[in-house]
This record gives sequence, structure tokens and C-alpha cells, in this order.
Amino acid sequence: MAQSIRDYNTFRVDHEVSSIHQATTIEELRAACEAVDNPIILGDGSNVLFAADIDRPVIVIDMKGITLGDESDRWQEVIVGAGENWHDLVLWALDHDLGGIENLSLIPGKCGAAPMQNIGAYGVEIADTLWSVGVMDRMTGALFNLSKSACKLGYRDSIFKNEYKGQYIITSIKLRLTKAPHHKLNISYGDIKKQLSDQGISEPTIKDVSKAVIAIRESKLPDPKKLPNAGSFFKNPVIPIHQYDELKKKHSDMPSYPVSDAVCKVPAGWLIDQAGWKGVMLGEVGVHAQQALVIVNHGAKDGKQILELSKMIQKSVFEKYGINLNTEVNLFRK
Ligand code: EPU
Repeated sequence: MAQSIRDYNTFRVDHEVSSIHQATTIEELRAACEAVDNPIILGDGSNVLFAADIDRPVIVIDMKGITLGDESDRWQEVIVGAGENWHDLVLWALDHDLGGIENLSLIPGKCGAAPMQNIGAYGVEIADTLWSVGVMDRMTGALFNLSKSACKLGYRDSIFKNEYKGQYIITSIKLRLTKAPHHKLNISYGDIKKQLSDQGISEPTIKDVSKAVIAIRESKLPDPKKLPNAGSFFKNPVIPIHQYDELKKKHSDMPSYPVSDAVCKVPAGWLIDQAGWKGVMLGEVGVHAQQALVIVNHGAKDGKQILELSKMIQKSVFEKYGINLNTEVNLFRK
């Protein structure tokens, strides 16, 4: 029987899928995989856009639990169920004075989705602390571990979005977090430095860094519970340096981040902002007024409106800069 996806996606669009199955244990996950074909796997649905009714079943990952693994005098391993909320894990780590994920405070979503797109913010990615992931082979139900290198983590990318798409389901993650006094703070990101100095903090703790990140995110990024969204809608495009040098002649203030000798990254938020989209509404959907990389939903039930706005943005950025924006959210459409 068809079911609404409304409560399972942070855009709060209201499309139907063929069925929805909760997996709170490994056994429930295995049973759901045996019962259905070609499922869509969701955590909190915080990085997806449904733009139509989709004739596929959904399995919602909800396996909980945080356990301690191996340790040394410098680090502690933690093994976390894929269904744990990511930010709750960050708070748990801070309470235990374990470091390495404080810059990733307040990122929406569940832990199982974190390696999938190698979540990152303010100079840190989960790749920096991930040790391995536990997976289930969807077809056989077999469980095993994949090392970090086997996950082929890249910028908002991993093997789970490519070769292993639809094949392996992440059931747990293992992180190696630092113990005091071996924390390595990453406060090089301009916004964090400013936030800390505004508060007069010169020797920050991991909790201070987390608080600074939370303050920055709350000032720019809309809370999905109050204003439905899926974070950055597009990835920051990576372009050849020679193309960037050409563009810079005409747009002298275009920012960039170094990637390699051959390519650099340009902030998509800047491109979208400069193309005039910041704060623009199109019917019930719009571009967030504080961060142009985020599309917000003021009440549309049909995700197609969001998809249409995103296409208009892509077209206008391409016309102005000759740069293609690729979506960061996973799209489900007809
Ligand atoms: N900018 C503008 N106008 C805007 C937005 C941004 O000019 O409307 C400029 C900013 O002034 C800055 C640059 O673009 O020079 C970068 O902006 P920001 O620091 O806000 O970061 P971002 O590159 O837009 C990325 C991630 C975010 C992450 C932040 C902080 C991607 C796709 N997004 O955004 O991740 O929180 O860096 O590290 O890489 C997410 O993935 O959902 C997400 C929110």
C-alpha cells in the first residue's frame, strides 16, 4: 500500500512511495531487504529531494547504540549504529572529551549517511576520523567491515554513491577520536577564528569550537524543523585553474579554494548569490536569504517545484559563468 514520504524527508514534500519499513535492528534490516526489491535507503532524509511519487519501497535506518572499541593513550575508537543522530554523537563525544568531530557540529542526518557523502564543514571531513564502516550486503544479508580506504571518500563522495550504490547498506561506523591532551583543533576557517575572537577565547577547547560552529551555522543555515530544507543543494564546482583565471579577469572578486595544481573549487553559494538568486521566491519555494546554496520550502507539497527552481538556478549560473552546478542532494524523480 502506498505511503507518504512527508515525515521522512526534511524538505517536507508529500509524495508517495510503495511502502516504508523501519529497521531498528540488524535482523529487521535483513528481513526488510528480503521482503522488498530495490529499496531506497533513508536515514533522516536530510539530503534527498523527492520530486514525484516513486514506485519503490523505503527502508528507514534506525539501528542505535554507541560502544567503545580499542584505545591507546592518544585515541579512543567508538562504534556507532547507523541510526544514531549525527549531532547527538558529536555532543556525546564532547561530553567524553573526545575530539575530531567538533567542527561537524549540528550537521543534520544520521551517522550511517555521514560516510556516504563524506560530510564536511569548516575545514574538517568525517574522512579525518573515520576508521571503518560496517555494512550489510543487501542481496545476501552478509555483514562485514570496510576500511576507510575501501570507502574511497572524496569531496561529498564515496564508493557508496558509485560502485556500491544499492549494493551495501551502512549499518555502523567506527571513528578514531582523540583523547586530551592530544586534540588537534582546526580553527583555520575564517568564520571560526572570528567567532572565537569575538568571544575573547584565545585558547579554545573542543567544546568552544563546537559552540562557535553552532553559532555560525545557526546564523546562516535554516533549521530544517522550522524551515524545511536539505542543506547545500549543490556541490561547490571544481573547475580547471585556467578557466578560473579567465573568469577572474571579468569577475575580480570571485573566491576560490585550492584543490590541486590543475583545479580549484569555487563556492556555489557565491555564484548563485551573484546571479541574483539570494532570497528569491518562486511560488512556495525559494533561495535562503542568508546562504544562497540552500533551497528552502515554505509549504510546497510537490517536490517538483524545488526541482524546477534548482534547474533555473543551474541554467542562470551556466549562462553567466559557464560553470555547471551538480546537485549535492540525491534526487528521486520520474
Ligand atoms: N557566499 C556568498 N553568498 C552566499 C553564500 C556564500 O557570497 O549566499 C560565499 C561566502 O562569502 C564565502 C563562500 O561563498 O566566501 C563560501 O560560503 P560558506 O563558508 O558559507 O560555505 P559553502 O562553501 O557555501 C560549504 C559546505 C557546507 C558547509 C560550509 C562550511 C558544500 C556543498 N557545502 O558551504 O556544507 O557547512 O562549507 O564549511 O560543500 C552541506 O553540505 O549541506 C553544507 C551545509
